Parts: sequence; C-alpha cells; structure tokens
Amino acid sequence: VILVVDDHDRVRERVVETLVDLDYEVRQARDGREALQSVRLEPPDLVLTDLQMPVVDGIVLCRELKTDPVLRLIPVVVMTSEPSPENELAAISAGADGFFAKPANQRTFAARIQVLVRERALNQRLDPAENVLFATARAVAARNPFALAHSERVGQYARALGAACGLSSDECELLYTAGTLHDIGKIGVPDAVLLKAGPLDAVELEAMREHPVLGAWICSSLQSVQPALPIIRHHHERFDGLGYPDGLRGTDIPFLARMAAVADGWDAMVTPRPYRGERPTTEALAELVHGSGTQWDPALIEAFRDLVERGEIARLVGLSFSTPQK
Ligand SMILES: [Fe+2]
Ligand SMILES: [Fe+2]
Repeated sequence: VILVVDDHDRVRERVVETLVDLDYEVRQARDGREALQSVRLEPPDLVLTDLQMPVVDGIVLCRELKTDPVLRLIPVVVMTSEPSPENELAAISAGADGFFAKPANQRTFAARIQVLVRERALNQRLDPAENVLFATARAVAARNPFALAHSERVGQYARALGAACGLSSDECELLYTAGTLHDIGKIGVPDAVLLKAGPLDAVELEAMREHPVLGAWICSSLQSVQPALPIIRHHHERFDGLGYPDGLRGTDIPFLARMAAVADGWDAMVTPRPYRGERPTTEALAELVHGSGTQWDPALIEAFRDLVERGEIARLVGLSFSTPQK
C-alpha cells in the first residue's frame, strides 16, 4: 500500500496510475496534514510525497514521520519538479529514503519503489524478533518473583537518566531496550543460584557473573538489538575497574552501559529482597552516593540523584510495569 501525497490533482493521478499499473494498492492525500492523518489511521508501506505543498509540505511531513518511534520505519520518498542540491539536502536531512525528480524515468522509478517496499517488509519482520526477546526477558523475570519487572524498571530509569543527560531520543530508546534486556542472560543461571535466599559462595558467584556475556550472546543473532549488546555486556562493570566481565575502568566503559549500571544499581537497592525488606529512599541515596567514583560514574550519580530528589524516578514506579494478569 502506497500513499501518494501531492496538491496537484493531475500530477497525483498520473503517479497513482503508474503505481496501480505496477500492482500497488494506492491511497491519496492532498497535503502533508492529510497525509499524516491517513498514516496515523492506517500506516501504508511507503509514502511518496511532493516537496512543495500548502499547509504541511513534504519536508515537514517526512520529518514528522521519521521522528515518530512507530512510524519511522515507513519509507518516505520525496519527489519534486525542482530538483536542486538544496532540496535534496533538505529531504535527506528530514530522513527521506529517496529523492526523485519529476517526471521520473518509469523503469528506474518502479525499481526503486520496489526496493524500498521490500526493505519495509524486511523491517516489519525485524520487529517481532525484538518482541520475542522482550518475551524472553519477561520469562527470566517471571522465574524470580523478586526480579519481576526489575528489567522494565531498569529500562525506564536508564531512559530517564539518558534524557536528563541530554541524549538523543534514539539513544534514550536504546537505553530502554537494553535495560529491558540487560539480565536476559540470567536464563542460563541455575535456579539454585538465581533463587538462593542469601549470599552466594564463590562457585555460585561465578555462575551468576556469566549472565552479562551470556545475555549479549543470546541477543547477538538479532540485527535489531545489535546496538544494545555493549550495554548488556558491560552493565556490571565498575568505574574503579573491579567489575565484570572485562574489568573495564572509568570512561573505557561504554557511556550508555555506565548509565544502565546506575539504573540497575538503584533498582537493586530499593527493591525488597528475600534477605532484607524494603529500604527507605534516603538510605538508598546514601549508598548510591557512597559508590560514586568507585562503583559508578560520579557525573551520572549526580544526575541520577537529582532525578530521585525531584521525584522523577518515583513517578516512573508503577507506571507501566507488566505483571502477569491473574
Ligand atoms: Fe545484571
Ligand atoms: Fe539487573
């Protein structure tokens, strides 16, 4: 399904005819605003838009779509009768997947549209793969009632910390994904270790400490999760170099992994455990500050403490944690 956006009826109809001849199902819109409504109502597989249009032009339309976390995978092609380097640059900067001059050569046009639609189909198959991983992460959490929703909370805390540190929305979303998956490797940790109510002995500790490497390995076969791998692998590194699995120190630890470590540490401190009950926020904050520069990046501890003190972290708790429906 292709959405054709053009304010000139004759031009639009000519493009529609070509696409119908190529066996595509076609929808139409007369400007960017109409197009946005149409896409939000029912996402097409490709948007083919004119550049200059009244109300909302092709560049704004493209940018709107490409900054939407759900709609950004839809390919957008910008077409114009005035192809200039400036126009092309504007389209590319807005995230366009293609820039054609009108009228386009029919055969090239057909081939390029076909490539983009096929890519879209592949992208749509990637998403469920990510969902399978999320389901696995939940399976890990469900094995341990005390860890239930831990991963999701870590994802949310890490994302909030990323936003507070001025990261881009892509990086914030990556932090959420990685946070949700960070302990997925615990699926390989034996129950006797994972569920033990009390301190672990040396052998058990070693088994537990395999989970970051195992987690990164489990996720490594999935293209869509590649950027999360360093965060999963390094979420137990310590700022002083005494963490695992690689004993990385200070800024050698990937920045986003340092953020996830703070989020993970905070959740571990405030969540009730079998061997200790709930803990007051002030006590947890003191422990967090105590670990600044040894366990965690001092700059991040400051930012996180600020979030806790402003109530931002407490506001997240209980928002969208998925607990099994009884
Ligand atoms: Fe972990
Ligand atoms: Fe964790």
